[in-house]
Amino acid sequence: MYRSKIAGLGANVPENVMTNFDLEKIMDTSDEWIRERTGIQERRFVTQPCGAAELALPAVLAAIQEAKIDKADIDLIIVATITPEHLFPGTSSFLQALLEIPYAPTLDIRVQCSGFIYGLSIADQFIKTGMYENILLVGVEIQSVGLDLSTAGRDTAVLFGDGAGAVVVSRSDDDSVIASTHLFADGTHAKDLWIDAPVGYESPRITNEMLDQRRQYPSMNGRQVFKHAVTRFPEAVIAALDANGWTREGIKLVVPHQANMRITEAIAKRLDLPLEKVYSNIHRYGNTTAASIPLALYDARREGKFDKGDQLVLAAFGSGFTWSSAAVVW
Ligand code: UT7
Repeated sequence: MYRSKIAGLGANVPENVMTNFDLEKIMDTSDEWIRERTGIQERRFVTQPCGAAELALPAVLAAIQEAKIDKADIDLIIVATITPEHLFPGTSSFLQALLEIPYAPTLDIRVQCSGFIYGLSIADQFIKTGMYENILLVGVEIQSVGLDLSTAGRDTAVLFGDGAGAVVVSRSDDDSVIASTHLFADGTHAKDLWIDAPVGYESPRITNEMLDQRRQYPSMNGRQVFKHAVTRFPEAVIAALDANGWTREGIKLVVPHQANMRITEAIAKRLDLPLEKVYSNIHRYGNTTAASIPLALYDARREGKFDKGDQLVLAAFGSGFTWSSAAVVW
């Protein structure tokens, strides 16, 4: 059986910075409320029409360059996003066209905040069996155009931002490896964090009445999300440690999905890890859903938080509910 590794990593965010103070101007909120409850200070919002594939492209090209492969060597494109350009086809089709690599198969996955780790697991399986050698995995979100940026939507609108991260997962011929992945879900909480409309039950799928009811915007039972997140995140991390015989002392960094700084602090506490060992860049980008883990990996590496050979645990929790972890030797 073959082994896989992350061979290249790239990130891209829109240039436009939207601070908490900018949000104060368009809804009844405050920098203090947002920072205290979430740790977010600013996020990036696109300023002109831009599809998820377009935002992802610079991140993808950087990942391909670092992996030292030609784009024609990509055997499969996986895109994790909850904010695709269209209901169908998926963002991976648009990305494949932009990359100009006809025939590479394309696969969109919809697992919300867990999308990147679920994608990593899928890529790992394809590499392990020998079917593919190089897989492009992208996490990308353009949340800003789908948020209710009025006071009515403030409980969710202040949390999310735009961004993209990409990795090339390749067959490993050295010590770098995706050592394990663990995937979990509990669909009984599907409506605790969701977008209701446009829906498949009604005809037509979207009506003026639905728009008036604001059913096209995200809605969240924040307390439920928080309560489950602080339990499920640590469980997923422990699953990764146990599967590999790794210890809390031995790992260099936990890179969690950037949901909320208070959740990150709770993860550190419950795992008895110093906060410096649980990476956070949520103050810069907010919650970028499927993009947050590759964006966090990118920033953490740039800040010198880990290096080749280090043990990392990636972990996610979010809508679905879905949660997951990956043990990675960089
Ligand atoms: O990937 C998963 C994504 N989601 C998460 O990670 C979120 C998890 N949940 C949380 O982190 C917290 O539940 C929140 C940060 C979302 C909310 O914190 P909370 O302490 O649970 O606040 P709350 O919803 O109970 O609201 C408290 C008050 C309410 O006012 P009243 O009823 O006490 O007068 C809200 O209307 O805060 C008000 N509020 C706001 N005020 C200013 C809600 N959103 C805002 C806002 N600005 N943006």
